Amino acid sequence: MTSSENKAAQTLAALGVTEASSVSVLFAEILARFDGEIAGVQDEASWKQLRDAWLGRKSGVLTLVTDNWLKPATPELKRVVGAELNKLRGHVEAQIEAKRAAIEAGSDEAALARERVDLSLPGVTRPVGSHHLIRQVFQEIEDIFVSIGFSVVEGPEIETPYYNFEALNIPEFHPVRDDMDTFYIEVPKGAPSPLLLRTHTSPMQIRTMEKRQPPVRVIVPGKVYRRDNPDATHSFAFHQVEGLAVDTDITFCDFTGTIEYFVNQFFGPGVKTRFRPSYFPFTEPSVEFDVTCVFCGGSGVSASGGTCSKCKGAGWIELFGAGMVDPAVYGFVGYDPKKVSGFAFGIGIDRLAMLKYGIDDIQVFFQSDVRFLRQFP
Ligand code: PHE
Repeated sequence: MTSSENKAAQTLAALGVTEASSVSVLFAEILARFDGEIAGVQDEASWKQLRDAWLGRKSGVLTLVTDNWLKPATPELKRVVGAELNKLRGHVEAQIEAKRAAIEAGSDEAALARERVDLSLPGVTRPVGSHHLIRQVFQEIEDIFVSIGFSVVEGPEIETPYYNFEALNIPEFHPVRDDMDTFYIEVPKGAPSPLLLRTHTSPMQIRTMEKRQPPVRVIVPGKVYRRDNPDATHSFAFHQVEGLAVDTDITFCDFTGTIEYFVNQFFGPGVKTRFRPSYFPFTEPSVEFDVTCVFCGGSGVSASGGTCSKCKGAGWIELFGAGMVDPAVYGFVGYDPKKVSGFAFGIGIDRLAMLKYGIDDIQVFFQSDVRFLRQFP
């Protein structure tokens, strides 16, 4: 406790002050102490401390002075003590308020400086993603077919055996089902039908024809599943684009012309196509389309002079299955097989992407490795 603080705790009589001039000296002393203290106050916390020390109701200096000096003062001194105390109080209050304003302005300024937005700083860059290569190839194929009058439809990946097999002319126990072994979904007891993951996009042929009358021209991009062991060319999930065109006068020529147009658009004009007889229960006749090897230009010889490793020297690469829609299929959708004809095809997208972009392992499509994905921005 400083001596002046000490003094405020004692009465004037105890301090031996009996004259007005001594009272003024006492007040001058206490005012000087206040000025000294407030000069050192720089922040809100010390300002509050000072305010409480001087203006606090119970034991602030001004309360002490009132209680110890003014109240018990002799009648002769009371007037001068009162006047001095008022002066002191006015000074202390005004100074404390001025200090508060100064501190507040200072902290505003500090906050403004702290929060100043520097427009010259580089912004937050959010890397732009891109479509997966498979999605890009879907898009390329969709664009080609849309440009010649096909529309795009999509269907469920969980199918009934009826759409995946029966309506496509694949009865139960037909040997072709062995090639399309798939995953079955557990269904509740009493469910109307088992459910499976579709093995191809062909069920959408049926679903589309059930809903629409000819002419029908659709392609169906989508994901399909088979119970395959993963290796460089097999995966339990892969992608197809189904195609279906049905009308009153569609011929085999329309079919091959459409496929040729697509292959040329997709691989470029240098590529030739051919077809070989094949078998699918839902097309008759069925064919397998081949293209001249895009790596050796169909010569069977690689750039270094050896046998082309991609087509194994054949010069041709097998592309996809297709055919004229089997009349039996029309029976399942209520079309008159005597009046309509059409063709269908099922393109394996992963394989097509691998051929076009020189990728030798199908697994990279499913591994989400950005080092691979970044090569196809
Ligand atoms: N759905 C057949 C498959 O996945 C391909 C195909 C589609 C064949 C349409 C003919 C017609 O193997």
